[in-house]
Amino acid sequence: MNHKKSIQAADGKLGILIPGLGAVSTTFIAGTLAARKGTGHPIGSITQMGKIRLGKRTENRNPAINDFVPLASLKDLVFGGWDITPDNAYEAAMNAGVLDKELLTDLKDELEAIKPMTAVFDHKYVKNLDGEHIKHEKTKMDYANALMADIAKFKEVNGCNRLVMVWCASTEIYVEQQEMHQNLLQFEKALENNHSAIAPSMIYAYAAIKSGVPFVNGAPNLSCDMPAIVDLANELKVPIAGKDFKTGQTLMKTILGPGLKTRLIGIDGWFSTNILGNRDGKVLDDADSFKTKEVSKLSVLESILEADLYPELYKDMYHKVRINYYPPKGDDKESWDNIDIFGWLGYKMQIKVNFLCKDSILAAPVVLDLALFMDLAHRAQMKGIQEWLSFYFKSPQTMQGLQPIHDIFLQKIKLENTLRHLMGETLIHHLGLDYYEEEQ
Ligand SMILES: NC(=O)c1ccc[n+]([C@@H]2O[C@H](COP(=O)([O-])OP(=O)(O)OC[C@H]3O[C@@H](n4cnc5c(N)ncnc54)[C@H](O)[C@@H]3O)[C@@H](O)[C@H]2O)c1
Repeated sequence: MNHKKSIQAADGKLGILIPGLGAVSTTFIAGTLAARKGTGHPIGSITQMGKIRLGKRTENRNPAINDFVPLASLKDLVFGGWDITPDNAYEAAMNAGVLDKELLTDLKDELEAIKPMTAVFDHKYVKNLDGEHIKHEKTKMDYANALMADIAKFKEVNGCNRLVMVWCASTEIYVEQQEMHQNLLQFEKALENNHSAIAPSMIYAYAAIKSGVPFVNGAPNLSCDMPAIVDLANELKVPIAGKDFKTGQTLMKTILGPGLKTRLIGIDGWFSTNILGNRDGKVLDDADSFKTKEVSKLSVLESILEADLYPELYKDMYHKVRINYYPPKGDDKESWDNIDIFGWLGYKMQIKVNFLCKDSILAAPVVLDLALFMDLAHRAQMKGIQEWLSFYFKSPQTMQGLQPIHDIFLQKIKLENTLRHLMGETLIHHLGLDYYEEEQ
């Protein structure tokens, strides 16, 4: 019998702190405010709309997830963040051009009150951006301390009981882990010495965890994905999760990929191309930022298809991902996938997917769910990497030496079973025991 875990109540306000007040974060904030007012539906959010089956199928118990686990209520959320431009959330949302003007006008007062704090930014890490609304300190440790002061002040001024931080800032250039990323003491020394391989996203992650604030990395940057920061999170009992929100084309890939694999359909090649015209697209137009994204996007299929177990089906698959900046598209990304597959006796077939998606519309519910689930994890004394939230990421962060799970359906089972485990419910393995004794 599984026992219910002890979980601190979700009393008081939860502050959601966001580095990067851009398209994703303002779509998330405005949408959450609209849902709270009852003027919009939080579609796509598991915490707001999801149900979970409990017990045997015959019991017919399918409570709403937010009735089953103690999550912070939307009415208790407070939003804050940092950006390299001083635009408030209303101006930033208008510039992003994702949501309708009428919807934003209706929320204008609340959005205007969300003004970004000055950012920790280094142009070297995001070559296609520049901004003046930034901090000026001597060492990277000083920057971390300045962020910690921001966090403490935000908590006090807004009367928050708890905080979470979700990185929604631009994708940084590709950084390989170095020796100082392996060890906390060396990493802290490197912060003092302004080591060139410490990117701003790592400084935010360090500052959040040091402040006891759960940290989520929504971009593919290394950020908290290194032993030094994982050790810090474990030591201070703070949950962390990443990387790179799973939306758009990769979401489709992790839906289609497991489907083809499960019927043992072979794949010769999978060519994915995208055009998008928002600022994210502009940042990714830089080869070094694209490299970070490419690594994240490419890893997905390898793990789903398990070419080492099924070499005759997947060993020679050619996988290519392209992103092209095309301003007229704005946030309305268009992606094409050409999938060359083969079936019985090797006969060839093709699948073409043309997805006209809105990236930030797909990302907003992911931000909301991650913020609420990370707060739950913290109150349930869960620490370190939260692999059960892999469901939301392109490139799930795992314990060192473990292969991430990319199959979205396995990820969902893991998420739901974690919730059942927390609440003392029987885990569901979908095994039809009814043939033998009684139905599961
Ligand atoms: N939209 C999606 O579906 C999706 C999916 C996966 C990942 N992401 C990632 O989420 C992030 C945000 O995407 P977006 O479309 O909102 O981009 P965006 O360009 O609209 O917003 C990013 C914001 O971050 C700010 N910024 C950059 N560096 C910063 C720093 N060091 N500190 C504070 N602010 C900083 C920029 O000024 C900008 O306002 C990107 O890294 C993107 O790759 C987005």
